[in-house]
Amino acid sequence: PFPLFAQLRSVGPIVPIPIPLEGTDRQGWMVTQMKEAVQILKDHTHFTVDPRSISGNVPLKHSISGNNGESDSSTFFTGNSMLSVDEPDHRRLRGLVSKVFTPRFIEGLRPRMQEIADELLDQVQERGEMDLIKDYAFPLPINVISEMLGVPQADRAQIRIWSNALAHGQGLGKQDESVKEHMRAFGEYTSQLVAEKRLHSADDLISQMVAIEEAGDRLSEEELLSMITLLIFAGHETTSNLIGTGTLMLLDHPDQLKKLKADPSLVPSAVEELLRFNGPATIVGPRFAMRDIEIAGQQIKMGDMLLVIPTSANRDETQFSDPEELDIARNVNRHLAFGHGIHVCLGKPLARLEGEIAFATLFKRMPNLRLSVPRERITWSFSLNSRSLTAL
Ligand code: HEM
Repeated sequence: PFPLFAQLRSVGPIVPIPIPLEGTDRQGWMVTQMKEAVQILKDHTHFTVDPRSISGNVPLKHSISGNNGESDSSTFFTGNSMLSVDEPDHRRLRGLVSKVFTPRFIEGLRPRMQEIADELLDQVQERGEMDLIKDYAFPLPINVISEMLGVPQADRAQIRIWSNALAHGQGLGKQDESVKEHMRAFGEYTSQLVAEKRLHSADDLISQMVAIEEAGDRLSEEELLSMITLLIFAGHETTSNLIGTGTLMLLDHPDQLKKLKADPSLVPSAVEELLRFNGPATIVGPRFAMRDIEIAGQQIKMGDMLLVIPTSANRDETQFSDPEELDIARNVNRHLAFGHGIHVCLGKPLARLEGEIAFATLFKRMPNLRLSVPRERITWSFSLNSRSLTAL
């Protein structure tokens, strides 16, 4: 349970963060309930993902989107990606990859994903013990997205180090020098990768995007690099957390795990419920108000920042029956774990399929799986927008 979120929901759907945003007189808000969260994520007249588009804007000194109005290499990460721009640029950028992320294409990845999951479990089967994060939850998604993009095997461990630093360094005021250094290194790596694909084009997503960029008018060099960095980063950190945290949640609820093992057709709804119950994204946003607006009795001023808290909205008592219960057979499950509106997660069919294969394979091959350390020794790593198990 998340008692603090329950307390915040009881305060109201929009709760002020009691400190002004650093370097400004602006206010931050947490959005804790479903109705208002959906309203804000759908309203592109009042809200933007890009603080640069607010008139008279003074750039935010520290932004959690990576898009802080500056353009040094430390903000390179997502600064020009689809995640950080409004329409019409968003539609143009998203359109380029969504052509590839079709249901048919994703379904075609199933056999290879299954193979990767089995290979990983083959490696630990004899040992009798594993760190589920290091041995399974991390390598499965990074290998899937890397194969899609054409990222060499040898580079994948280093990518984990960078993206971990990014995931855990992207808090308000937390972009210290070491995080910037990791971002710079990740950026340089992406540039080199693109340069190699220019020389030796292959049958992968990066080569396809390089071809689009070289054809001229739809993708700039900066946008290409931001897109690739976003796909590498978004394509594995969150999915690793779904597999890691999801496994722990199932072990914490033996009745639900038993039900799942008895009826594997429940795997898709179990994935959905695990996303609702304790999904990987701790915030959706930020969004910035482009003009004054009143929502649920709160006066939101131009330039204010809103953080939607999906795990809170996903436990909204007005939307879900028994929201604090994990119910893998839950029927209606319109959760916010993938966000909502035009920026809704592009990779959600991929993430769902990876989750399904990961849980189905794990519990089929290791039906007696249990924790090898006391529950209270399990530790988490937190940042404003990420919560992950350090080991399991
Ligand atoms: C956007 C969550 C996996 C690619 C988002 C957003 C959320 C999210 C909440 C919206 C952010 C916002 O509106 O501010 C998740 C979760 C995942 C997951 C919980 C796993 C369980 C993936 C995967 C990919 C991916 C596997 C693969 C490539 C993206 C992209 C966007 C996005 C490109 C930006 C979409 C846009 O701005 O139009 N994701 N994601 N995600 N996600 Fe995912």
